[in-house]
Amino acid sequence: MRCFVIGGTGRLGAMLTDHLASRGHDVRVATRSPKRRMSLPAGASAVAFDLRAPSAAALRGVDRVFCIMPRGVALEVAEERALLAALASEGVSRVVLVTGLGVDRAPSSPLYRLEATFAQSALAHAVLRPNYMLQNLCASPLCEAIAEEHEIALAAGDARVSYIDARDVAEVAARAMIDDAWPHGALDLTGGESVDYHQIAETITRHLGVTIRYRSITEDEARAELERAGAAQETIAARLGFASLTRQGAFAPVTDAVQLVLGRAPRTLEAFVREHVRCWT
Ligand SMILES: NC(=O)c1ccc[n+]([C@@H]2O[C@H](COP(=O)([O-])OP(=O)(O)OC[C@H]3O[C@@H](n4cnc5c(N)ncnc54)[C@H](OP(=O)(O)O)[C@@H]3O)[C@@H](O)[C@H]2O)c1
Repeated sequence: MRCFVIGGTGRLGAMLTDHLASRGHDVRVATRSPKRRMSLPAGASAVAFDLRAPSAAALRGVDRVFCIMPRGVALEVAEERALLAALASEGVSRVVLVTGLGVDRAPSSPLYRLEATFAQSALAHAVLRPNYMLQNLCASPLCEAIAEEHEIALAAGDARVSYIDARDVAEVAARAMIDDAWPHGALDLTGGESVDYHQIAETITRHLGVTIRYRSITEDEARAELERAGAAQETIAARLGFASLTRQGAFAPVTDAVQLVLGRAPRTLEAFVREHVRCWT
């Protein structure tokens, strides 16, 4: 099957590309810079594509499309229409759209509108709404804060979050891409447990052998830290919005979607930390 992976050079898309290519599918990895050096698995090739100016030609002969709206890209209505038109004109048989947990309850979010645009179209599609991914703990800025300051400082209070491993999201996405019958419309994807940041710090401490503490900070402190780091006002507003939702418990619910699709429990925080302990050294 010919698959087109938007975001295929990013974290989640690269994991999905590996899954699809290892199962013998022909994978087109969409990128704005196809000429740059990148390591792709056998069976995958890079194709020039920009969500802001989608080329129907790039989609020629494609059966299934994986689509994300990358951080910092909030498509305008006209750009969404151009994307849907390109997908429809090339006869794509299913689109797997990744948004985020809670997007269906956030009408002001660009991802909410993108979901709605797909819902109003005639295109067969699946929606995956993952929670925060465990891999964020090994990415900037949390990774450096843990490795260098030995702390996690967030405006998350004592809220719990059902973190999910991106590898589970990629596996579910691979099923949604290639299964002939995909019975699910939209799935909220979470890990199998809901943990607070004290528990996360304690788990890292246990595996790292260095005490990591969680410091719950105020919204003003979070804003000041983001400003000090040079974050754009838009980014600051988005981060504080997510922190507020986190404190309200919006990312705490646990769903059985991973078990339902993969027939096994989601990967755990414990296993993730054990496998990734070197990222904090
Ligand atoms: N991280 C989380 O905790 C979390 C939680 C819930 C949902 N999500 C969602 O999951 C999705 C995937 O996350 P991720 O961390 O894998 O994303 P990521 O690594 O930040 O994605 C970057 C990718 O987006 C592509 N891209 C950027 N601008 C583009 C454009 N204008 N046109 C086409 N492609 C463009 C990049 O391709 P090139 O640079 O090669 O062009 C790259 O492949 C995100 O959209 C996010 O909304 C993430």
